[in-house]
Amino acid sequence: MDQASSIEDRFAAALSVLEKIKQEHVLTFYNTLDAASKDRLLDQIEKIDWEEVARLRETHVLKDPEMKIAENIEPAPFYPNTPTDDLKKKYAEAEKLGEKLIGDNRVAAFCVAGGQGTRLGFSGPKGMYPATPIREVSLFSCFADYIRNMQRKFKCVIPFYVMTSPLNHNETIKYFRDNNYLGLDEKNVMFFPQAMMPGMERSSGKVLMASVDSLALSPNGHGGSLKALYTSGAIHDMRERGVQHISYVQVDNPLVKLIDPLFIGLHAMDEAEMSSKMLSKRDPFEKVGNFCLADGRMSVIEYSDMPDELAVEKNDQGELKYCGGSIAIHMISVSFVEQLNKGAFRLPFHRAEKKVPYMDMESKLPVSPSEPNGVKLETFVFDALPLCDTSIVYETLREEEFAPIKNADGPGVLDSPATSKQMQSNRAGKWLKANGVEVPLDANGNVDATIEVSQLTAVCAEDLETHPLPKEVKRGAEILL
Ligand code: UTP
Repeated sequence: MDQASSIEDRFAAALSVLEKIKQEHVLTFYNTLDAASKDRLLDQIEKIDWEEVARLRETHVLKDPEMKIAENIEPAPFYPNTPTDDLKKKYAEAEKLGEKLIGDNRVAAFCVAGGQGTRLGFSGPKGMYPATPIREVSLFSCFADYIRNMQRKFKCVIPFYVMTSPLNHNETIKYFRDNNYLGLDEKNVMFFPQAMMPGMERSSGKVLMASVDSLALSPNGHGGSLKALYTSGAIHDMRERGVQHISYVQVDNPLVKLIDPLFIGLHAMDEAEMSSKMLSKRDPFEKVGNFCLADGRMSVIEYSDMPDELAVEKNDQGELKYCGGSIAIHMISVSFVEQLNKGAFRLPFHRAEKKVPYMDMESKLPVSPSEPNGVKLETFVFDALPLCDTSIVYETLREEEFAPIKNADGPGVLDSPATSKQMQSNRAGKWLKANGVEVPLDANGNVDATIEVSQLTAVCAEDLETHPLPKEVKRGAEILL
């Protein structure tokens, strides 16, 4: 329904769609609303694909969807972190190609930051979270500094695209504005919100309301980025700038190599549509997706869907056969996103039972459930991998590139601010050691000091070669570079 239609026509159209699928209760309070609230509710309703909601209610809400795993599963091949002799030449050429693409302004940075970050429990967009061990600069700052470093090094422009959700869009933009775009040029930073999905009551499949004039909406998963990149005009903007490749990262990993010449080069050289970084899994059941070839196509099988017997399988060398863990770092070709959106692409939805706050329809009071009451439906970006004709995987190292902040701090909690800060110090210590600095370790092999290397100073150990460094780091010291 176009926005120029009268509010009466919009209401009639919404009612007709909703009645057909028995979700008309969302209009229960419509007649009591003022004009602005009516518009807000209708606007939300008009943005949702209700046929899809009706279908998903049957397949994903009222029951657990049937999870079909391909018959033929093999581990996905990958480029190892340390090249074998026959790959050395290719890596050298790929790195040069990556550098050329960066220098020619062919690469954009893209951060998906539309998630709600409920596990971390930080009030505000997660990208604003103070992530680093000494200066406590934000995750967004880490990325901005990385971009500034690379722009300086390659005398180029790397536009930065940030996907938000309607829940954190304005706050994210305000943060960048209030902080002078974190040192980036405003005209090279673009924000766009992803689409939303209504939460549904687990027992009835009814769409939950958040208030009399709002559905209980949540972002539709990072898979929504592949559509939002296109519908927002970001892809059009990239085309105008001559950008060919998108470096995709999540907002929660301050160690990510946001723009990595070798990875970019391997992706481009092999003419891949979408590529991924993997790391070697800590154990068979680590909670990361598994890179596989499923019926010959690149796929990530979630840890929860991976049959145990496959997860523990070993190869002839006695190593885990399915060792490749997905850490949500991708290169995506602009033409691939265009091609998906020009066709009728659809990523599968995943079901998650969650505590969805809602409004009680009788009392109109808000309810914060203590147990999961609802189902949220999300799509995942890695589900686009099987749609690629060519997709490569490159192995990175955990200590170099993966220190996500997912959970609030607590004793024994992994992927928390505390574990991330330790890993940031560890990597900084490793880089210092590679440059001849003595660095103390504790009994667990962790750096026994707090070291922070700003991404403006260095994004790899070699960047420190020309930087004034101490001879040694004292136990317990704080060092900021
Ligand atoms: P997570 O799966 O960690 O989810 O997102 P989350 O929403 O941030 O955190 P929890 O589960 O509520 O604690 C991984 C990445 O995908 C982005 C997140 O912002 C993060 O960068 N994401 C997730 C989106 O951009 N949109 C979504 O709908 C979901």
